[in-house]
Amino acid sequence: MAVLRKINQILLFLLVFTICVILYNKVHKMPSTLLKNEPVDLESPEEMEEDIPVVICAAVGRMGAAFAAVSSIYSNSGSNILFYIVGLKNSILHIRKWIENSKLKDIKFKIVEFNPMVLKGKIRPDAARPELLQPLNFVRFYLPLLIHEHEKVIYLDDDVIVQGDIQELYDTKLAPGHAAAFSDDCDLPSTHEMVRSVGMQNTYMGFLDYRKQTIRDLGISPSTCSFNPGVFVANMTEWKHQRITKQLEKWMQKNAEENLYSSTLAGGVATSPMLIVFHGKYSPITPLWHIRHLGWSPDARYSEQFLHEAKLLHWNGRYKPWDYPSIHTDLWEKWFVPDPSGTFKLIRPNS
Ligand SMILES: *[C@@H]1O[C@H](CO)[C@@H](O)[C@H](O)[C@H]1NC(C)=O
Repeated sequence: MAVLRKINQILLFLLVFTICVILYNKVHKMPSTLLKNEPVDLESPEEMEEDIPVVICAAVGRMGAAFAAVSSIYSNSGSNILFYIVGLKNSILHIRKWIENSKLKDIKFKIVEFNPMVLKGKIRPDAARPELLQPLNFVRFYLPLLIHEHEKVIYLDDDVIVQGDIQELYDTKLAPGHAAAFSDDCDLPSTHEMVRSVGMQNTYMGFLDYRKQTIRDLGISPSTCSFNPGVFVANMTEWKHQRITKQLEKWMQKNAEENLYSSTLAGGVATSPMLIVFHGKYSPITPLWHIRHLGWSPDARYSEQFLHEAKLLHWNGRYKPWDYPSIHTDLWEKWFVPDPSGTFKLIRPNS
């Protein structure tokens, strides 16, 4: 019995001691928190980080492109991304359903409606390639109207796949006085090979009609390397300061009146005004962040090794990876998010 009483005493002592320790901790933690005199962070550090705004258009008929891009960006980044998905009025509902009823439901997004009325009288009909007149091609001209809460913004064409962390692209340095950063069309040796093999233009001559006096008056050498406006990082403050939107509209309007842009236009009617307005006034994007021309030819291919290292792939050109024929389609299709409504379908040889 004596032994049991002893054990009981020890247990009681331990219990009391433990309670004292707990009380001590409670009492001494409280004041220290209060003394810090700063707001208590309830959110984890990740949630406190700034969102990276990414603008991407979802056009009727090729909506699967935008969501493959979104899925690749979201999956390959550890950062918080806010997607601005831009569409025309009649596709807003489809966009929302695609996101909410697929694996994209966890992304942070805003759906923005673009009203093509702003383009009235500024674009001329292009009978040869009507798809390039898609009003959404001009959304990039109006970024400050869509984005209000962010100074720095990423714009991406829908026919891209991102294989790196988008934070790296977002960290692109813009030199003072530059409203945007683009990839120069002479930036990579592999691009040169591609350019030669499919005979494509990579200078201003390919986009502007140098027979027109208005173009010659610009004083831009026709052999100047062009840049691709399908991937860019922009500073909205500088953009507004330089009234870039107004300038782009002016060059759209002038083209509608005088037909200034090359008729065999490579990158669509939205490219030429960008080339004029940003001439000599843009910062570079790291070459691996914009490997392009994947849609230029159904058979000219890049090496697998090279594509593996690429951070961003761009199928600019006619041969789109959701269509057939196209090249390096596997690299695109692994990010494809099927349309929950079943409307959008991939075009494949055996389907
Ligand atoms: C954007 O441009 C403004 C005005 O030139 C400048 O003050 C600001 O630092 C720039 N911001 C970034 C993120 O480059």
